[in-house]
Amino acid sequence: MKNLSLRILLLMGVILTLFASCEYDFNVYPQPVVPPVGTEDTISFAQDIVPIFTDKCISCHKTGGFAPDLTAANAYSALTSGNYVVAKNPDESDLYKSLKAGGSMSSYITVDETALIYRWIYAGVKNN
Ligand code: HEC
Repeated sequence: MKNLSLRILLLMGVILTLFASCEYDFNVYPQPVVPPVGTEDTISFAQDIVPIFTDKCISCHKTGGFAPDLTAANAYSALTSGNYVVAKNPDESDLYKSLKAGGSMSSYITVDETALIYRWIYAGVKNN
């Protein structure tokens, strides 16, 4: 009988260990795919980025609303003069930091859209 309870205890230990090792890391965030060095990224601010702002952000970030003003007419100057973007350095850019997983604005945007914004910053914050 003593042997049996020892076995049950052992079995429970094994099961617990198995469950613990199955823990999923929800913080894993797909890294945006950027073109290899030396390749020009074809991303366009006007055609790829502004429509995201118009669709997902300007209900709050309109002129006279919360900063930055992300309306088509003002988004570029608001982002650059307000230091929300650091050219070629998305990880240091408040815009990207607020949109990536865990960021304060991440619930308003998809991962794919955030990846476009990452690429736009990485390509040098062009007003193209
Ligand atoms: C429901 C309203 C709402 C929506 C939608 C929204 N935001 Fe915001 N956003 C806010 C508020 C409120 C703040 C904080 C403003 C402040 O503190 O002055 C903020 C702050 C920010 C900041 C500044 C963060 C910082 O660290 O300084 C950025 C950048 C930003 N939002 C980007 C976006 C983008 C891009 C979108 C669209 C994908 C978006 N927001 C959608 C309400 C919103």
